[in-house]
Amino acid sequence: MIIASMYPCPFDAQDRHEFNSSLIYDNQVYSYEEGKLTSIKNDGTPKFPERSLMMGFKELDILPNQVEKWVFPKPKNEISLDSFYLLFSWYFKAYDGPQSQFEEWYKERVFFVEHQISHASLAVYGSGFNDCAFLCMDGGGDFGDHRGYLFGEFTNNNFDVKFESKGTDNIANFHSFITDAIGFSGDDNGKTSGLASYGAIKSDLKEKLIKLIKVTKEDGVKFDRKRFSQTRVNLEKVRAESYDRTKIFSHFPSDTNILRECIQYLSHDIAATGEHILQESVIKLVKILKDETGKKNIVFSGGLFQNVSLNKALLNIGFENVYFPSAPSDSGLSLGAALYVKNKDEFKLTEMLSAYLGPSFSSAHVKEVLDRHRLIYSEPSNIAKIVAKKLSEGKTIGWFQGKAEFGPRSLGSRSLVADPRNIKSKEKINQLLKKRDWFMPYAPSILEEDYTDWVGQSHYSPYMQIAFDMKPDLIEKIPSAVHVDGTSRVHVVKKTENPLYWELISEFNKLTGVPVLLNTSFNRHGISTISTPRQAVEHLLEGCMDYLAIDNYLIAFDDNRIVADRKETIESELTLLKLGSVDRLSVFKEHGSEDQMSVYLTYLSELIDIHLELLDDRKIKFQNNISEISEAQRIIASIIRNEARKV
Ligand SMILES: [Fe+2]
Repeated sequence: MIIASMYPCPFDAQDRHEFNSSLIYDNQVYSYEEGKLTSIKNDGTPKFPERSLMMGFKELDILPNQVEKWVFPKPKNEISLDSFYLLFSWYFKAYDGPQSQFEEWYKERVFFVEHQISHASLAVYGSGFNDCAFLCMDGGGDFGDHRGYLFGEFTNNNFDVKFESKGTDNIANFHSFITDAIGFSGDDNGKTSGLASYGAIKSDLKEKLIKLIKVTKEDGVKFDRKRFSQTRVNLEKVRAESYDRTKIFSHFPSDTNILRECIQYLSHDIAATGEHILQESVIKLVKILKDETGKKNIVFSGGLFQNVSLNKALLNIGFENVYFPSAPSDSGLSLGAALYVKNKDEFKLTEMLSAYLGPSFSSAHVKEVLDRHRLIYSEPSNIAKIVAKKLSEGKTIGWFQGKAEFGPRSLGSRSLVADPRNIKSKEKINQLLKKRDWFMPYAPSILEEDYTDWVGQSHYSPYMQIAFDMKPDLIEKIPSAVHVDGTSRVHVVKKTENPLYWELISEFNKLTGVPVLLNTSFNRHGISTISTPRQAVEHLLEGCMDYLAIDNYLIAFDDNRIVADRKETIESELTLLKLGSVDRLSVFKEHGSEDQMSVYLTYLSELIDIHLELLDDRKIKFQNNISEISEAQRIIASIIRNEARKV
C-alpha cells in the first residue's frame, strides 16, 4: 500500500502555516515540513507542499502514479473536480487517463481527514497504545474543521469523540495573546515559556486574568478574548532572507484585553503569570476528563502541547502512560491523516514512531557540494571520535547526518552541538552564532543508558517534548543545558534509533565523564531548521559554528574563511533582562495610560536598581511622549551597560 498525504489541501484558500507532506510505503514512513526546505517560516499563501512531497518520492524511490491513496485535510469549501484533475494529471502526473474518466479514479483514491482527527491519529498510532484516551487542543483547527478541543477514547481501532468545541476563544489563544502582549509574534509561544522562568507570578495580575478563563469538560478551556483593533502591516519585518509573514502582517503588541490588563508589568512577570494560568487551567481540565474515562493511557496532540513545561505537569495526574508526538502542531497533520487512512483499512499496532522520517543525502552528493564550494576539508576515519574531542575543547559543531528529523526539534540529525559543561557554550551560541533570544533554553541530549541518573524520573523522552527537573547536584555539571528554573528539555538518545549520534555522545563521555551534549537546532535566527548540505555549508561560512561534521567529512570554519576580528561582546543574562525591560518602555508610545506607565517604572526601577530620582536629575520626564521615552531608554540603557562593564 502506498499513501501520499499533504497539508494543507491544494486549492483550498485559507491562511495556514507549517506546510507538510508524508508518504507511507508498506512499513516505510516519510514525513517532512516544507519550511525546512524553503527556509520560509509560517508560509500562509495558497500553495501546496510540493517540494517536501517530491523529496519523499525520491527518498522512497517511488513515483506519484504508484500511489493508491491520496489524503488531504478536509477543505473549507469543496474543491472542484477540475482542480483535482489539474493537480493529479498536470502537477503530479499521477493520472494519465482521459478527463472523462477522472471522476471514477478520483472517488477510489482521494480521501479527506478532519484537522483534529489527524492530530489525534498521529498521537494514537504513534504511541504504540492500542487502547487510550486522546486530548487535542490547538488555536481552533482550520477552516475545514473549526474545532480547537477534542476529547475521546480510542478502542478497537475506533475514535469515539466524547467532547468537542469550536472556535478561537480557547486557552491556546490565551497563550498567543499573552505572547503578543509581551511583544512577540503570536506564534512565538515558546519564547513566552522560555522567558517565564525569569519572572514571578503576580497575584494581582493573575486575579484579573483568571476571570477571563472558564474550564468545563464540554468546551475545554474557554478564554474571553477581545481584540480592539486591526494591527498594522509592519514593513520593518520584511526580510528577503528570512521571510515570516506572521511578523509582517501583525504589528505587536496589539490592542487586546490581555495587553490592557498586562501593560504595567515587566515582560518576564507577564510570561510567568500567563504560563501559570495556562498550566493550572489545562491541568484542571485533564483532571476532570480523567474522571470521565476509564483509560489508563492518554495521548496529547495539537499545538498547545508543544509547551514542554505544560507537558511536564501532565505526566503525573493519574494516567499510567502518557504520550506526546514528535510533531503535535500542524506540522504533524499530513502524517496523522495518512496513518488514519492506512489504519482504517488494516490496523497494525506498531512501536513508538521514530522521529527520523525526513530526507537524507548520499555521501557523493555531500562531497559534490563541498567541492563545488571549493572547501578545505578532511575525511577522518572516525568522525564521532574526532568531533567529541573538538567538543571537549569548547568548539561548536554543526552535526548533519542521515535522515532529517520530522517535527520541531533537532534530535541529532540536523543539530548544532556543544559542550554542556561550560555556561559560555550557551552564551556563545545564543549571542554570537545563532543570534537568538538570550533567555531561550538549550536542551541536553543524554544517552539512554544514563538519563535516569541525571533526571528525576524515568519517562522515556525521545522527541524532546517534555521538560524534566534535573537532579540538583548535577545541574552545575552541565550549566549551559539547564534552564534557569532547574529544568531541561531532555532528549533521550537510543543506540538503535540514532547509532552515530549515540556514538558521538559516548565518545564525549569517555573524554569527560559526562554522557550529555548541548543540542540545539541547526539554523540561524529567523529561519526553520535546515535540511540540505548546501544550507549547512552556508551556515558554516556565515560563522554559525566552528566546525561542520557532515556525513564523513569535517570542515573547519577557520580553514575556509579569513575574517575580521569580532567586535561583539557577550552580555550577561541579567544585563540582557534589564535591557529588554528598558526596551519594553516603547509599548507606552502607543498603548496604556500615564498611571500604568508609572507603575511599570516602579517595577523597572526595582529590577535595574536605579532610582528614578537619578533620572529626574537628568531632566527626563516620563510622559507618553515618544521622543522623551526614547531619550529615557537611551540614558537608562547606557547606565546599565556602564554598570555591567564595571562588574
Ligand atoms: Fe492544529
